[in-house]
Amino acid sequence: GKQPDLQELVRQMTLDEKVAQLIQLAVPFYEGAKDEGLITGPMASLGIDETTVRDSGSVLGMAGAQEVINVQRTHLANNRHGIPLLMMADIVHGFKTIFPVPLAIGCSWDLGLAERSAEIAAKEASVSGVHVTYAPMVDLVRDPRWGRVMEATGEDPYLNSEFARAFVRGFQGDDLSADTDRVAACVKHFAAYGAAEAGRDYNTVDLSDRQMREFYLPAYKVALDEGCEMVMTSFNTVDGIPATGNAKLMRKLLREEWGFDGILISDWGAVKELIAHGIAADEREAALKAMKAGVDIEMMTSCYVKHLSELVEKKEIEESLIDEAVLRILTLKKKLGLFDNPYRAADPEREREVVFCDEHRRVSRELAVKSCVLLKNEGVLPLDKKRKIALIGPFATSEDVLGPWSWTGSKEDAIKLADGMRSKLSDAAELTVADGCGIKTASEEQMQAAVAAAREADTVVLALGEHSDMSGEAGCRADIRLPEVQLELVGRIRALGKPMVVVLFNGRPLDLHGVYDEADAILEAWFPGSEAGGAVADLLFGDANPSGRLTMSFPYSVGQVPVYYNAYNTGRPQGAPDAQVRYVSQYLDIPNEPLLPFGFGLSYGDFEYDNARLSSEEMTSDSALSVSVTITNKGAVPAEETVQLYVRDLSGEVVRPVKELKAFRKVTLQPGESRDIEFTLEESQLRYYHSDLTHSSDAGAFIAYIGPNSRTNSALPFRLIK
Ligand code: IFM
Repeated sequence: GKQPDLQELVRQMTLDEKVAQLIQLAVPFYEGAKDEGLITGPMASLGIDETTVRDSGSVLGMAGAQEVINVQRTHLANNRHGIPLLMMADIVHGFKTIFPVPLAIGCSWDLGLAERSAEIAAKEASVSGVHVTYAPMVDLVRDPRWGRVMEATGEDPYLNSEFARAFVRGFQGDDLSADTDRVAACVKHFAAYGAAEAGRDYNTVDLSDRQMREFYLPAYKVALDEGCEMVMTSFNTVDGIPATGNAKLMRKLLREEWGFDGILISDWGAVKELIAHGIAADEREAALKAMKAGVDIEMMTSCYVKHLSELVEKKEIEESLIDEAVLRILTLKKKLGLFDNPYRAADPEREREVVFCDEHRRVSRELAVKSCVLLKNEGVLPLDKKRKIALIGPFATSEDVLGPWSWTGSKEDAIKLADGMRSKLSDAAELTVADGCGIKTASEEQMQAAVAAAREADTVVLALGEHSDMSGEAGCRADIRLPEVQLELVGRIRALGKPMVVVLFNGRPLDLHGVYDEADAILEAWFPGSEAGGAVADLLFGDANPSGRLTMSFPYSVGQVPVYYNAYNTGRPQGAPDAQVRYVSQYLDIPNEPLLPFGFGLSYGDFEYDNARLSSEEMTSDSALSVSVTITNKGAVPAEETVQLYVRDLSGEVVRPVKELKAFRKVTLQPGESRDIEFTLEESQLRYYHSDLTHSSDAGAFIAYIGPNSRTNSALPFRLIK
């Protein structure tokens, strides 16, 4: 094939042509595009001309094999160097076959299936013409008010890192050049976007360097170590400087310290937003700062194309910076084989075969089953197929089960809960369905019809939740309870005194006041994706056994937020032997603890933990410890458990979290079966960032905990000897 000498190509390009490679435009700018594509930000007038579009480097949010082929063909006919366009899009949790939202995937703790879901998403996207996905999103999240927590895998840096690795592997495979059914991944949003103050999107982030390194940065680093091709900047400030103009973060840390030499792309409009943030007086200065910080591609604003050439001519920026950025973009195009075959895997025929095929849907269902978390069960689940069930609530027949970021998925193809449940019953008449209310509104008639249906039934299943646009980008909420009408519905059904199961469809941990105490059982389904109804029905009827575990705490109330398991102790912790009644770190009106902790989830099995033990009470740098426990499934059905190992460092140079997840293992046990689970704990797992940012361990006392969730307190003390 034709493989250009990229250095030579850059030499042949004019400065304006080079700068044009650095802009990324959405679909409507391109000739031959049929629809709008994905618009996820302001479409302000960019003031650019046709020449810029002709010489531009990449497209945002275009998919569909024929459309991509058309646009690429027209583009190549007009571009004098024949430089193909890179097609980038948000393929976040599936393309047409939609998987559960990432927070739900996190709750599966199933790295293999997570990887497989990304591989399938890549394949469907790739045959539909996409080259790069803006995923994985690996922001650590602690604040459920923030709408984007549904895009993250949770509050733990270790688990997030494991998922980051799995997703990158799934998207990219081993060899992007050879395997055209994979796409390049773009890890985002660098950095610490998940720490927006007060859970309000795009808000300030201000963290110490230590917090950054200990909690927020590890997952991005692991994604890059796995070979992730691209990085996207975040909208927020990092220590006073917006990430997109932050040279310390991008040039120093990302490029110099971590050695990242792939493409750094801004988020939508984030270069121009340096003006609103107040670190640039105008678009010219915004361009200058973003380029100096190391941003290669400016997404959907035009500061670069309007000002970079002039900034070079006036010697305020070295042309070599522009050349480097262009070279990175061309390098990825070459790696993806676009100079050879600009259409890559785009193929309308294969698209029809591959996209939403049975095998992909089967994996989606399997992952959806594993992602749901059973939060409560007072003996009502699984449901008895012979009893009369009333399925009530706005999600009973809703198609809104794909969740945010599923723009290429089609709701019409999603399995609704009512259909999933009906398919399990030999006599479909045993299931009556009533909505009871909408997501936020209800009529008295609707309510009464629901109450009447419930009265006739033996068991009520209430399908409640948030509309998908109540989470996701710009989907923040200050009150994270279910909307009031739904709470009213709960109350009215509760009053009938029937066994009541609540199934929740939502994009964040909720404040479960008005539901938790009232329901006999609660299944957190999140947004389960294309196979929602079938997967949830599998769990409700016991054809599958719930195995999901929360990766983000469910607060007792929003007043605790942020509340997360790996927090620091205080000098006046609750429950200390010498604690005063009043002068303790606590609330007067609510508990300190979240309602449901990280790692928590029930199943239809009944696991007993026994004989937690260490191989020794001392460890050194060369002698690892083994931490073991015997677990037994005392229940009547096969069940999957996620055994979790936590450590606490009792005395560090800086304060240390009260618990940190170090390892976990998923095991399936038959009824009555016992198994020994053994973990190896090494000195390297006890390292942390000291005040001078060095990463090392300290000799001294530690506690290991092994159990079913982060609340486990079977303490196993040991010492690290150095
Ligand atoms: O990838 C997204 C990002 O997560 C939020 N802003 C828009 C980008 C492109 O759609």
